Amino acid sequence: MPKWLKNAVFYEIYPQSFYDTNGDGIGDFTGIIEKLDYIRDLGCNALWINPCFDSPFKDAGYDVRDYKKVAPRYGTNSDLYRLFEEAHKKGIHVLLDLVPGHTSEEHPWFKESQKAECNEYTNRYVWTDHPFAPIKGYPYIGGECERAGVYLLNFFKCQPALNYGFLNCEEKWQLPPDHPDCIATREAMKDVMRFWLDHGCDGFRVDMAASLVKNDDEVKSGTCALWRNIREMLDEEYPEAAMVSEWGDPVKALNSAGFHMDFYLNRPGNGYNTLMRDYETGEDNSFFKKDGRGDITRFLEEYLPDYTATKEHGYYCMLTCNHDTLRPKYNLDDEELKLAYAFLFTMPGVPYLYYGDEIGMRYQKLPTKEGGYHRTGSRTPMQWSAEINAGFSTGSADALYLPVDPTADAPNVAAQEMDENSLLNTVKALLKLRREEEDLQADAGFEVIYAESKRLPFVYRRGDILIALNPSAETTTAAVEAGSRSVRFSIGKGKAENGTITLEPQSFLVLK
Ligand code: GLC
Repeated sequence: MPKWLKNAVFYEIYPQSFYDTNGDGIGDFTGIIEKLDYIRDLGCNALWINPCFDSPFKDAGYDVRDYKKVAPRYGTNSDLYRLFEEAHKKGIHVLLDLVPGHTSEEHPWFKESQKAECNEYTNRYVWTDHPFAPIKGYPYIGGECERAGVYLLNFFKCQPALNYGFLNCEEKWQLPPDHPDCIATREAMKDVMRFWLDHGCDGFRVDMAASLVKNDDEVKSGTCALWRNIREMLDEEYPEAAMVSEWGDPVKALNSAGFHMDFYLNRPGNGYNTLMRDYETGEDNSFFKKDGRGDITRFLEEYLPDYTATKEHGYYCMLTCNHDTLRPKYNLDDEELKLAYAFLFTMPGVPYLYYGDEIGMRYQKLPTKEGGYHRTGSRTPMQWSAEINAGFSTGSADALYLPVDPTADAPNVAAQEMDENSLLNTVKALLKLRREEEDLQADAGFEVIYAESKRLPFVYRRGDILIALNPSAETTTAAVEAGSRSVRFSIGKGKAENGTITLEPQSFLVLK
């Protein structure tokens, strides 16, 4: 396990929208370099950058055309190497996004693979042996290639699936994972990883990590075996490199596949969803809404067994949001967000902050851009100031990758820096607290002290630190003995006296 993860706090950067230094309306590597001090002062010491590789951008870069070359719109490979270097000087680690499940249909491997004559890349993707027969259980495309077969898709139409084999082969064109051509795909992905690690990158966020071996079993034994093989390579050659999976199933991702971290992803009705985004059914029952209709036990029922089963193996990670999810500001105001972040940043595992969530950037209703659809509204330019284009770019407003929040009260960094009660300053204070208290970091234990269905507060212990949380607009109490602990940090007001913790409306108390 890379030691630096123990106190890591990640900042996710969607490079298109972070900071544009050459006025072309789109973010760039130089922009990220210029904002490294901001990121460090915020309290983040690690970055995850969404795919920044050469791509036709039909899925915002998740359709990679060249794994080893950056997209010119962000700069050059040398700029990215410089970013690694500058980040390291400031104690910041950098993860790139690895997209191992598919490439763009414009990738040279695919161009070779679709040829009628056999070549080195014939089996690099999944093809049937007949141009009219469908693929059972998977999306596919026919009629577009020289080759007399149809090919399997991993996501959009532009993303043919790379071939890591089928655990249970049912057709003669399906190859087992240990077929030399499937192993060649895996080795090609290792080669991509080594390329970036050798240039100074610190690891990868892995896209659709569960999707590699097809016809896999319930426990994903085929896909997990593949990742374990890759983990062995890392342990041997790059022991400080870190991998986080987009999986959302920590027992598989951490215990079986060997990822260091797995994201707790938002899925309608799951435990994480009940915290901040429980509005799909029409009524908003999110735990962090101040009307207090939420129920923390719905989160704990799912989280606790997963946390308990995986805590010795890796980190199950809390996110404020990501580039696929509606921003938390969609339904929570800044006071509600402060408490939600207080919770996320004091939980075990490694927290991830999505750019702009620290100032409460809004979700924008926008037409789709680069395959974003409803996700587009969470990908708008970072709001640095009240200057032109919110300080994101000096280019013309029509040239921007996406429009900036047009409202007069759009939050921005410069204004929030001046306001000691701002969301931004609360995030800074919370991350400072986490940095100073080992008991609030990735490894320290987590125990539920008081959590009753439809009742508040919620009280939990991290190491020796006791934390109490009341997201509602009512004062709440719980019979909890805090011992000799006193208040180390608070949002709102609360106290622990004579075996009772009392929390005023919307408050958070850290007792040490
Ligand atoms: C992941 C990414 C998403 C992308 C998809 C296909 O879910 O987070 O943005 O569209 O994979 O690569």
